[in-house]
Amino acid sequence: MKIISSIDDLRDQLRGQLRTAFVPTMGNLHDGHLSLMRLAKKHGDPIVASIFVNRLQFGPNEDFDKYPRTFAADVEKLEKEGVYVLFAPTEKDLYPEQQEFRVQPPENLGNTLEGEFRPGFFTGVTTVVLKLFSCVQPSVSVFGKKDYQQLMIVRNMCRQFALPTEIIAAETFRADDGLALSSRNMYLSPQERAEAPRLAQVLNAVAAEVRAGHLDVSMLEQKAMTELAAHGWQPDYISIRRRADLQPPSAGDLHRGELLVVLAAARLGVTRLIDNLEI
Ligand code: PAF
Repeated sequence: MKIISSIDDLRDQLRGQLRTAFVPTMGNLHDGHLSLMRLAKKHGDPIVASIFVNRLQFGPNEDFDKYPRTFAADVEKLEKEGVYVLFAPTEKDLYPEQQEFRVQPPENLGNTLEGEFRPGFFTGVTTVVLKLFSCVQPSVSVFGKKDYQQLMIVRNMCRQFALPTEIIAAETFRADDGLALSSRNMYLSPQERAEAPRLAQVLNAVAAEVRAGHLDVSMLEQKAMTELAAHGWQPDYISIRRRADLQPPSAGDLHRGELLVVLAAARLGVTRLIDNLEI
């Protein structure tokens, strides 16, 4: 595997490649990331991964400084997956001057759910993803459904800017007890780790109720938040949305059987976890 940090060297290395499959990451790779690499292999060749902890998507009080950086272990894992190039720019490589041009996701998609609780987050994500796509020029790129809203925003960005990159969605990778894998799980104490699967359980319970025809969405959301709070969580939101555009479903949508997804974010101690389930 070639490890490249400069944009020019990356372009030299990938010149002429027409089927590059790209998996952007912030490192601290776990089995969820590796499942993205395996899916990428089915959709293109060569495989390019990136590791870049993107300051632009962290709020001033968020965990940019303590975000886990495990480069040597990550390199070993990517070698084993047959990744051809690891693009690992420094901040100076990717942002040699202040990044003044930014991508602004539309209000209705960028300022709801995660966007409401993490102002500026999706501007930071889409700005770095556009820049990484410009460097790698992939024909496909794989994003996990674990970050459901991110996946949808990146997909819409590609469509609206007519980027020549197809976005492939990967299913969420879960531990045996149902907890969605995330780099932030490592912040959990052993007791919190034992409690953490409740988030997925609560989402499953909401999905089961909707499938059974209980369509009082706000009652279901409230009940789920109360259940989490009763076990020491501080929920930011549990919200049932239309899969197509992540807007709240109308009564008509619910009765027509519109495809839905339930999304959640909640804090357990100092750790903020997100998860979702398609209904
Ligand atoms: O999902 C992530 O790890 C990040 O948001 C991404 C897509 C690598 C952009 O920094």
